[in-house]
Amino acid sequence: MTSDYVMYNDVYSIPSVARLTTRTFRYILPGSTHSYAFLPSKTSYSDPELLTKGTFFSIRTSWHLRRDIKISTQIQKGPGDDRPTALQIIEDEGLHGKLADKVMVVTGCTGGLGIETARAFCATGATVWITGRNIEKLEAVASELRKSSGDSSRVTALEMDQTSLASVRSAARTVLATSNKLNILVNNAAVMATPYELTVDGHESQWATDHLAHFLFTGLLLPKLLSSSTPDFPSRVVNVSSSSHRNGPPDFSDLDFTGGREYSPGKGYGQSKTANIWHANRLNRIYSGKGLHGISLNPGGIWTGLQKHVPSEQIEKWKADANLMKGTMTSAQGAATQVIAALGSEFRSTGGIYLENCRESVSAEEAGGDGGTLYGYKPWAFDPEGEATLWKVSSEIVRVQI
Ligand SMILES: NC(=O)c1ccc[n+]([C@@H]2O[C@H](COP(=O)([O-])OP(=O)(O)OC[C@H]3O[C@@H](n4cnc5c(N)ncnc54)[C@H](OP(=O)(O)O)[C@@H]3O)[C@@H](O)[C@H]2O)c1
Repeated sequence: MTSDYVMYNDVYSIPSVARLTTRTFRYILPGSTHSYAFLPSKTSYSDPELLTKGTFFSIRTSWHLRRDIKISTQIQKGPGDDRPTALQIIEDEGLHGKLADKVMVVTGCTGGLGIETARAFCATGATVWITGRNIEKLEAVASELRKSSGDSSRVTALEMDQTSLASVRSAARTVLATSNKLNILVNNAAVMATPYELTVDGHESQWATDHLAHFLFTGLLLPKLLSSSTPDFPSRVVNVSSSSHRNGPPDFSDLDFTGGREYSPGKGYGQSKTANIWHANRLNRIYSGKGLHGISLNPGGIWTGLQKHVPSEQIEKWKADANLMKGTMTSAQGAATQVIAALGSEFRSTGGIYLENCRESVSAEEAGGDGGTLYGYKPWAFDPEGEATLWKVSSEIVRVQI
């Protein structure tokens, strides 16, 4: 058995068919000793390099088999290592210039992952809307993306301040009035570890920016997402969550820390990031039968503007941790998981799952527990009752029945 590659075992019934390339395949199952992947011919392979780019084969994605797959840090060497970038995902998926008839929206495109996600989307030839609160900064990004993609007509900068529900409504109105379709929405914008502050609408700023704004924006865009769905290209909402969902679920008794709960930046961020997962799960539960999937993910660790409110002692601690540093990536690599969530053919007709490292994740316990890695989801990440409560409470707050 070779370390970073996958073994092929017996062929059983095949529940789903995925188109994977050698690169994504290698990455999806790094260091695993057990996996179950098959060619339609039922040929057993011992060398995955034999799978040429674009080879079709089947992979069992069922949970009981996935349990055997361990997350490995063996191939992680820090920013710029072997892990794929968002643009490499587009190449691997064979999507370069292939989605000229699609429309995609990415929130929070004046920083790290949003820019790289939009860049990858531009490479598909799609019409791409990028949002941000600072329109000058956003226009500069749009102009750079137009230059790098070589087509000036396909990127539009859309002002949206996520601390204001009115601003979110106005941005959604613009998309609805201007675009005849919407295929992909990536809810990426966020703030982290902010000092306590209430928005103009009276909500704690992380809760407002990271969850409420996305809940409202998605709700208003839903009719367009649903009407744009086709059997071969179901619409998709991708919620960018975080390993920090592990800080805890939403506390519905005091979401804004106005009722006596002591404010903690970590708790505020954690409840918002769990809400991102629940929102995607619930969307998928309600709308997957109608051609809309909701999917969530943790992009991994990337040094971006997101850490600007983190105390410097904490940053120094992280930087002194060699293992943690090996896990960090460039923004282009961090955006890969959201791009594969949005456009990966293996996830095209699926949702209600949480991705990390460009693949469906496992529980935190299986990923190594709290003392091991920051990967894996906590038990509360999949909680239908919590999801339903979040849906009801959020609908009431933003005053939209979804
Ligand atoms: N970086 C990581 O290690 C990491 C780890 C796990 C999860 N994530 C998640 O990845 C996503 C992207 O984060 P990032 O690392 O790319 O962070 P980033 O570089 O700080 O980008 C965040 C984006 O959100 C925007 N934003 C913040 N507040 C806003 C508001 N009120 N209205 C509109 N836009 C607003 C920022 O705009 P401004 O430029 O105006 O601030 C920026 O464009 C987030 O959802 C984050 O939670 C990141």
